[in-house]
Amino acid sequence: MEKFRFLTSGESHGKSLTAIIEGVPAGLEFDIDFINEELQRRKQGHGRGARMKIESDTVQITSGVRFGKTLGSPITLVIENLDFENWQKIMSVAPENLTEVKSFSTFRPGHADYAGSVKYGHQDLRNVLERSSARKTAIEVAVGAVAKMILKQLGITGISEVTQVGCACNQEEFNNEIDITKEKGDSIGGKFTVIYKNVPVGLGSYVHWDRGIDGRLAQALMSIPAVKVVEIGTNPLGFYGSDYHDEFVLDDEGNIDRPTNHAGGIEGGITNGQDIVVSAVMKPIPTMKKVLKSVDLKTKQESVAHYERSDVCAVESCAVVAESRVAWVLVNEILLKYGGDTMDELMKNFKN
Ligand SMILES: Cc1cc2nc3c(=O)[nH]c(=O)nc-3n(C[C@H](O)[C@H](O)[C@H](O)COP(=O)(O)O)c2cc1C
Repeated sequence: MEKFRFLTSGESHGKSLTAIIEGVPAGLEFDIDFINEELQRRKQGHGRGARMKIESDTVQITSGVRFGKTLGSPITLVIENLDFENWQKIMSVAPENLTEVKSFSTFRPGHADYAGSVKYGHQDLRNVLERSSARKTAIEVAVGAVAKMILKQLGITGISEVTQVGCACNQEEFNNEIDITKEKGDSIGGKFTVIYKNVPVGLGSYVHWDRGIDGRLAQALMSIPAVKVVEIGTNPLGFYGSDYHDEFVLDDEGNIDRPTNHAGGIEGGITNGQDIVVSAVMKPIPTMKKVLKSVDLKTKQESVAHYERSDVCAVESCAVVAESRVAWVLVNEILLKYGGDTMDELMKNFKN
């Protein structure tokens, strides 16, 4: 059941990235500066590649907002790819401009190249790279910023933190770890946690397998490029049940309290009023200067993987992408539970 729905489009080096969102109530005060701030957060982080210096990542709104407020109609967001200027011919729509410039045919291990070429019948792996690239997470973060605007009105806020880069678990060592990796021509991954506060009790459900909010969050995070592990709350591996499960007590005023939150704010697929805590692990970036063995699709000979300008580490950005995705899952559940065609209606239902 989708109440906050959207589609995105756009290739990594295409003209632009676009999203059309449906379901945002009318009357939401729309903060374009906030979307742009979120986009800047996604661009940052030690270890990002040269592409991020080229792109300004500023959003244009071409529908759904008038005089600073949402209309209730679909909202269209557009981010121009500034690098497109250098790729106009290579990414041309017109058949007469067909070129082999920037084509490649050696699979990059860890990317969609091999499976994508078999699935869509592409001989030029550029056709796979362009949409499978994590460049599309820019427009996803813009969509997440719109979701966050709704959450903010309801007093729900989110943050994220990188907790591990490679083997380093200490923040002071993160940049050093990335620098050493870069010098070796290698790449690195890591782990981060996203926390949302003031989430009400009762989002999601246990009544069907696809209604659990834990499952929805896991899908939203697992589908971020390079994310391979998602944890809800504390990783339970190795715990005794008596140490893991969050006991109920009464506080001084006789209200129900939970001294711990190992469950990460979700029990039985439903939010329980505690902070939502989700963590994810990002694998090492698959493109690197260090040579990886591969096979060439055209020559059918062994070769080495195609290398293209790349991040060495993107865990910080990935955490921002994850914050956005948690935001859109929460907003979808909030719209399902509380409804409302206008923000006033939604807020009234929410308070009640
Ligand atoms: C924010 C972000 C930036 C990324 N940057 C790169 C990059 O510069 N080079 C690269 O090879 N992979 C990068 N990735 C990861 C790949 O997009 C991803 O590993 C690849 O598409 C294969 O998908 P999979 O790892 O989910 O199977 C990035 C991922 C994220 C979330």
